[in-house]
Amino acid sequence: MTQTQRIVVSSDHADIQLRQDIAAHITALGYDVVDIGPTTSQSTDYPIHGKAAAERVASGDCQLGVIICGTGQGIMMAANKVKGIRCGVCADTFSARMIRQHNDANMLSIGARVVGAGLAIEIVDAFLSAEFEGGRHATRVDMIEG
Ligand code: RB5
Repeated sequence: MTQTQRIVVSSDHADIQLRQDIAAHITALGYDVVDIGPTTSQSTDYPIHGKAAAERVASGDCQLGVIICGTGQGIMMAANKVKGIRCGVCADTFSARMIRQHNDANMLSIGARVVGAGLAIEIVDAFLSAEFEGGRHATRVDMIEG
């Protein structure tokens, strides 16, 4: 299993502050965080940021990614278009744990207008602390890749 060291974070304009808070939290956990912005809350297009973060993970530069938009949905869809990316939107900690354990998700998407900042941090913690279980789940994940 690849050891997680570097985690990319990105968002659209929906909640820059939440992204920065999550980046600080992940850094405090001891990971290297690659925050690829954006740096202002000027309106921007979530597909750009989802793809950019996903490419960091797909290339191996980062092992995991956390991305944010208003609902978490659009930026997740963009990330999942990049080969090798398995990104799920989570609004609860159970799902955040399970997408790692069963789906070997390498990216987590959060809807900043769906969950509060406190829950968002707990969702990130659940995602980062879980590990892929392999076995029958590995067979199924391989089927996703085609
Ligand atoms: C931006 O207003 C909003 O559409 C975006 O953040 C996201 O929710 C799209 O899925």
